[in-house]
Amino acid sequence: MTGPSMTTAPAVELRNVTLAYHTFVAVKDVSLSIRKGEFVTLLGPSGCGKTTILRSIAGLVQPTGGEISVAGRRIDNVPIHKRNIGLVFQNYALFPHKSIFDNIAFGLKYRKVEKAEIARKVKRALDMVRLPGVEKKLPSEMSGGQQQRIALARAIVIEPDVLLLDEPLSALDANLREEMRTELKIIQREVGITTIFVTHDQEEALAMSDRIVVMNKGEIEQLGTPEDVYRRPETRFVASFLGQSNLLPGRITAIADGQARVQLDGGPEIIAAAPASARAGAAVTVVVRAQKVTIGAGSKAMPGKVISASYLGGTAAYFVESGGIRLQSNATIDERVWREGEAVGITINPADCLLLDEKGDRLV
Ligand SMILES: Nc1ncnc2c1ncn2[C@@H]1O[C@H](COP(=O)(O)OP(=O)(O)OP(=O)(O)O)[C@@H](O)[C@H]1O
Ligand SMILES: [Mg+2]
Repeated sequence: MTGPSMTTAPAVELRNVTLAYHTFVAVKDVSLSIRKGEFVTLLGPSGCGKTTILRSIAGLVQPTGGEISVAGRRIDNVPIHKRNIGLVFQNYALFPHKSIFDNIAFGLKYRKVEKAEIARKVKRALDMVRLPGVEKKLPSEMSGGQQQRIALARAIVIEPDVLLLDEPLSALDANLREEMRTELKIIQREVGITTIFVTHDQEEALAMSDRIVVMNKGEIEQLGTPEDVYRRPETRFVASFLGQSNLLPGRITAIADGQARVQLDGGPEIIAAAPASARAGAAVTVVVRAQKVTIGAGSKAMPGKVISASYLGGTAAYFVESGGIRLQSNATIDERVWREGEAVGITINPADCLLLDEKGDRLV
């Protein structure tokens, strides 16, 4: 292929991809364009279609509609072995009786790469995942984290157009998982490989991704940078899925000076920054992150009472009651810890309040 399309084509492009298993639609009209070298994460609850999207890019399942291109080439009708794609799944799936060398060399042998070249590439892949010299070992002689790195080496050794990672860290224990998260990100950046990562762990997604695709029930809810999806959720689903938020239904009673006065259902009044489309009389849901609900002794604030307090080391999680509603507040413990039953003042900055309309879409 020649011409400008080579340089301008997205590394991976899904256009209106739909996939049904019999009558059940697992992926609905998904469009997604990924740049070369980008790290994109599919994030969403169990069953939302993340694995199905990876499987359709890999060629393990056939979409019922839409188009998939990799490096500017339509691949939805290309057989799986002719797609140049690297795959790593949750359970590594190394060949247990083959040496690490043979595990990594597998795809190269299949591609009829010359022997000396295979040895060179396997060595380089092991260097990349920082496990030099383990060629002769068996998978059983390596730790979970090391095995996962071998699986990664096996996927990148073929120099794929795209690397697909399906919950690759979920079999690891918490500490190792965090370590591998950083490691994987560094390796990905060094190699510069376009990567689609699947997880239902929001922390992992926020920490690793250039962009996050938040999915729900087979559809894309929001696509954006970690900051976009965390700070500016576009829908009720994204607001409640990412982080811990209070979602408070109410009605706008007045708008003045860029601020909306919202009468919460069965609760107090709250002031929220008013987006341009906010109208007095409209039913809304106020979204405020638990970290943005501050508890203090101040009398000017909204009066409330602590109904539960949990200490989490450097932070505390509180539930407070105010005028008939319950709010979650996550605080760093810098001054004092509030106790159950204590009367407190609650402060919420209007700028920290987002408003959703009746359909659950954010007002802008
Ligand atoms: N082979 C299949 N036949 C029928 N239904 C399937 C098949 N594979 C997946 N599904 C259904 O399609 C939906 C999406 O599945 P998928 O595996 O893509 O979800 P996921 O987002 O990867 O979930 P998880 O986080 O649990 O791995 C689920 O409701 C699942 O039950
Ligand atoms: Mg899955």
